[in-house]
Amino acid sequence: MTRKLFVTTALPYANGPFHIGHIMEYIQADIWVRLQRMLGHEVNFVCADDAHGAPIMIAAEQAGKTPQQFVAEVAAGRKPTLDGFHISFDHWHSTDAPENHALARDIYLALRANDLIDVRTIEQFYDPDKGMFLPDRFIKGECPNCGAKDQYGDNCEVCGAVYQPTELKNPTSALTGATPVLRSSEHFFFRLSDPRCVAYLEQWTQDGKLQPEVANKVREWFKPGEDGKALLGDWDISRDAPYFGIEIPDAPGKYFYVWLDAPIGYLASLVAWFAKQGRDVDAYLADPALEQIHFIGKDIVTFHTLFWPATLHFSGRKAPDRVWVHGHLTVSGAKMSKSRGTGISPLRYLELGLNAEWLRYYIAAKLNARVEDLDFNPEDFVARVNSDLVGKYVNIASRAAGFLAKRFGGELSGDVGVEGRALLDGVRAHADTVRELYDEREYGKALREVMLLADRVNEYVDRTKPWELAKQPGMDAALHDVCTVCIEAFRVLTIYLAPVLPALAARVEAFLRIGPLAWADAQRALGRHRIGEYRHLMQRADAAQLDALFEPAAAAPPADTPALPGGEAIAAEIGIADFAKVDLRIARIVAAARVEGSTKLLRLALDVGEGRLRNVFSGIASAHAPEALIGRLTVLAANLAPRKMKFGVSEGMILSAGHADAKAHPGLYLLEPGAGATPGMRLH
Ligand code: 2FM
Ligand code: ZN
Repeated sequence: MTRKLFVTTALPYANGPFHIGHIMEYIQADIWVRLQRMLGHEVNFVCADDAHGAPIMIAAEQAGKTPQQFVAEVAAGRKPTLDGFHISFDHWHSTDAPENHALARDIYLALRANDLIDVRTIEQFYDPDKGMFLPDRFIKGECPNCGAKDQYGDNCEVCGAVYQPTELKNPTSALTGATPVLRSSEHFFFRLSDPRCVAYLEQWTQDGKLQPEVANKVREWFKPGEDGKALLGDWDISRDAPYFGIEIPDAPGKYFYVWLDAPIGYLASLVAWFAKQGRDVDAYLADPALEQIHFIGKDIVTFHTLFWPATLHFSGRKAPDRVWVHGHLTVSGAKMSKSRGTGISPLRYLELGLNAEWLRYYIAAKLNARVEDLDFNPEDFVARVNSDLVGKYVNIASRAAGFLAKRFGGELSGDVGVEGRALLDGVRAHADTVRELYDEREYGKALREVMLLADRVNEYVDRTKPWELAKQPGMDAALHDVCTVCIEAFRVLTIYLAPVLPALAARVEAFLRIGPLAWADAQRALGRHRIGEYRHLMQRADAAQLDALFEPAAAAPPADTPALPGGEAIAAEIGIADFAKVDLRIARIVAAARVEGSTKLLRLALDVGEGRLRNVFSGIASAHAPEALIGRLTVLAANLAPRKMKFGVSEGMILSAGHADAKAHPGLYLLEPGAGATPGMRLH
């Protein structure tokens, strides 16, 4: 029976190019999808950019762009990388597209009609300078548990404690440095603690849709904790303006939290893809035979196995049939960072001319159906590609093709001898095993199977020695048989490898002059068929190319440059437009005084040529006596939003230099212009 498969990979945030972790997931899903297509099943394989959320809004602002422009530019860079790695998505969409706005509203209204939405007032940190509520990752402070400085609002990277941002000591806004204040606001909650949701999810997560280790982990959410309440509580699905997202119906200024509309983007992408083909998506989704399958990484399990199925089911829609979780990619044993990646850039990989199918093969060879991390190791990579792929598989064709062309006009012999037939039968007999292994996402096992078969074929060639047969008179028929067996075996192995190596398979199709390979073709013989001219099918991987891949990126200093004396890395690159936004002016310090109640601050009166004096607080008391400053010139960031402090309003910031580790190197050095500068001059 033909399977109907709706397959997705996780939607990447539209905040930058793909990193190697994305590509690994796409390769995993693409191999599975290609197998299903070769089996004649109907697959719709879609993805999209995950466009919304505060981090993207802020990144866009910092880049001087609208969020729409920002995500459009990221989206424009997707196709070359996807094509480069032969990822066969049928459609790529965006969660900011109209289909997603409409679907998110409909789904929300259905949940509301189902009495599953609550409105509650909650208190949250608010940045008074920026005029916005702060997401946890934009609040920094001292860990309430161990006192480590500079920790994020939800957990401590030093001691591992998990807490509420309101528990941080000396919290500051990572956006402006302002001290956040508590403010209350109305939020919308999806009542997942409703007994209907709990009962549904307990069933859904435990009835075989998930890998056993995932189902076990998710079970924790239903167990009562120390307070008697289960971890699975109601889910806050709203955020206040300003926010880049989808506005909530009947709630001006309120937006869906990005994680509500992100998975809805799977459906939006499917809807857009069906519209493009003029097909009825509702009928497709209503088909009980349809299997909806999501490939995801282990960090987003909760969203996909609790929130997402509940969102779908309780809005009257079909829930996923499978959520398949993979581990993370490490590089030579080191964990990669979600924001910084691993140092292997997929784009750089392609630009260096490394063969995308080497990576597909290597990743496949190391993948299984469990939630295990996968380590990318350059030496291992070169060894596997060269010894397995080129040495065992490609080699079979090159050993036979020359003789066939020179001696038999490229024509295969119709029949082969007993030994050859036995070998081919043996290779063909593995079609079901290999298919099942791929289907179960045991790609490593599938490829080991295929390489064992390649070993058998090579042993046959070693035994029958075509290069000797070619020299012996009267052995033409035997030589013809052996070469024919090689080509037939090679074709069957190509079918087994085609989900992993689609471009190579296409080259083999051209070489053998055959149509697109289907899985069932493994059981057929070509008979008396004339093949084309053999051209080398795949280069060997070279360790030097891999070294180039790992060369430090341009931004990092070469190992032999001395470290920055301040000890602080240079901040992320900005454009001139960003720099021009900061209005730096020469200022004369007209008055300076200590501030009562503060050991750090001085109160300065500055002349910036405006015909009035500005009041500025500056944290330089430890390094400068106030009387020594009077009359000196310095530089003021003059267009910073005024900042309300305990002691008054500060109207700008003066510039001084200091070491990153202020404890060890406490000096602070006021910036002073060269002679001749006068108050009010702008720095260019
Ligand atoms: O974690 C992430 O990178 C998210 N952008 C994944 C979203 S998957 C789906 F829900 F859209
Ligand atoms: Zn801590």
